[in-house]
Amino acid sequence: MLTAEEIAAFHKDGFLVLERFVAPEACDALRARAEALVAEVDAEALGSVFSTTSRVQDRDDYFLGSGGAIGFFFEAEAFDAEGRLAVPKERALNKLGHAMHDLDPVFDRFSRNPEVAAAVADLGLAEARLLQSMYIFKQPGIGGEVVPHQDATFLRTEPSSVLGLWFALEDADRDNGCLWALPGGQELGLKSLYRRDSAEGMVMEVLDGSPFDLTAGRPLEVPKGTMVVLHGLLPHWSAPNRSPRSRHAYTLHVIDGRARYLADNWLQRPPELPLRGF
Ligand code: FE2
Repeated sequence: MLTAEEIAAFHKDGFLVLERFVAPEACDALRARAEALVAEVDAEALGSVFSTTSRVQDRDDYFLGSGGAIGFFFEAEAFDAEGRLAVPKERALNKLGHAMHDLDPVFDRFSRNPEVAAAVADLGLAEARLLQSMYIFKQPGIGGEVVPHQDATFLRTEPSSVLGLWFALEDADRDNGCLWALPGGQELGLKSLYRRDSAEGMVMEVLDGSPFDLTAGRPLEVPKGTMVVLHGLLPHWSAPNRSPRSRHAYTLHVIDGRARYLADNWLQRPPELPLRGF
């Protein structure tokens, strides 16, 4: 699937941009399915979880339970203090996560694409397992920023094996909050790890407090249908979307089935939903 040059570029830069990887019709089908899921959800019922006055514990519990579910995550301030939506629900969502690829047939079909499987195998994951999926809305005007991070902070195996697959469902550019990456930054090592702690709940443990040099960052302005592959240690981020256009994207995180999945990762799949490959 991938050329020797593409594989070499991935190992050098820590990311690989593959334009026209997914057909526009497949992007549209995924988008339509996400919109149908949003149309079905009772957003007001989630107001008690996501309103500005709800308990942090309730939001944490909802998040931690979403590893084996289809969760709906709202933009900050989507709800008022009484838990009522302050904007129409189609415009209030930040993302869906984190097991659509196993629970929804349209997401399953998009994710278990033989070409994606071949690309992942070419990049060294001989026994890929589909761990996590997210549908990201990046709403016009209010789509929030994603601060610089490494995916291996959140999804840890020993040895580290997580690979991020990021699909542009619409054109992404600097105006609508495209992805940014730090070329070669996968060589910097893991900066922090996010883990369950029996005493404190979730903790962010800093391993190396030095900041990333974001001035060396590169904007990944890509057309609809592009797949971007991200090394698990590659620093990446995105700016807020202040444009009148949305920037929908779908991400899939895969790990190597031969690596040990850590018991203190935030994402723990329920026993009835074992990890599967492509
Ligand atoms: Fe990420």
